[in-house]
Amino acid sequence: MTSLLRDRDLIRAFDHAAPAYDLLTALNPGHRGALRRSARRLRLPAGGTGLHVLDLGCGTGASTRALLEAAPHARITAVDASAGMLARAAAKPWPQNVTFLHRTAEHLLAAASSTGTGTTTTAATGADTTTAAVPPGQRYDAVFAAYLFRNTTDPDAVLAGVHTLLRPGGRLAVHEYSLSGSTAHRMLWNAVCRTVVEPAGALTGDRGLYRHLRRSVLDFDTAPHFAARLARAGFAAVRTLPVAGWQTGIVHTFLAVRPRPAVAPPAAAARPGRAHPEAHA
Ligand SMILES: C[S@@+](CC[C@H](N)C(=O)[O-])C[C@H]1O[C@@H](n2cnc3c(N)ncnc32)[C@H](O)[C@@H]1O
Repeated sequence: MTSLLRDRDLIRAFDHAAPAYDLLTALNPGHRGALRRSARRLRLPAGGTGLHVLDLGCGTGASTRALLEAAPHARITAVDASAGMLARAAAKPWPQNVTFLHRTAEHLLAAASSTGTGTTTTAATGADTTTAAVPPGQRYDAVFAAYLFRNTTDPDAVLAGVHTLLRPGGRLAVHEYSLSGSTAHRMLWNAVCRTVVEPAGALTGDRGLYRHLRRSVLDFDTAPHFAARLARAGFAAVRTLPVAGWQTGIVHTFLAVRPRPAVAPPAAAARPGRAHPEAHA
């Protein structure tokens, strides 16, 4: 489908849209509530104590806030490719356990398996510092990605990277505009965009981004297709859950787990005729 924004053009469009982004999304009933629900669906134990969680494509921080509410004690690293969106996020008040990182998802995922340097913007100072923010071999306990995958040029490559970044047993929640596949939901999405979203975007000078929003959703995987994409990427326990309100059938939460490696039976137990030493203890 034509006129989708990709890569630098898309990030430039988000940079331009950043000042009005929070206002426009606040006009969408249920937007914040649905994000919070998806973050809670990660079911991070003990408020996230001892866990490191990645918010991939954090934008102006709405998904980061949802994660923080779901897991207030987790260490949260929030990443975005748009300096404009990220500056809006970092300007908000955050506790010390939240850190922002200006990187594309693709670079973050590649860096985690190579040099590991990046530019961080700490919530405390708002300052950029070049540091080993992404140590080689870094593994996260959970990844949250809200409205990211539809915007990536190669979602399979990003999913493969996320799979690598998660520790075995780590959890993924994707919150995304991904249509159910029914004609009614497709028609509703088109109608809402043409009558509300695109005119509102035109008022703020962001017509191109909000046209991209409508078309990218029509062009992206339906919910069953995205669930199948997750399974192909090696994720287990893939589940697709609806959100409430008018976005039912239009936005979904996708939950998945990076499987743990299968445990081989103890060599001694596998050999017939030899009792395990502990069997007599
Ligand atoms: C629709 S906004 C959503 C932001 C946030 N997750 C939220 O729920 O409010 C999508 C964000 O993804 C970012 N983004 C798009 N492609 C990206 C990529 N390849 N790597 C990192 N961020 C990306 C954009 O800059 C934008 O801030």
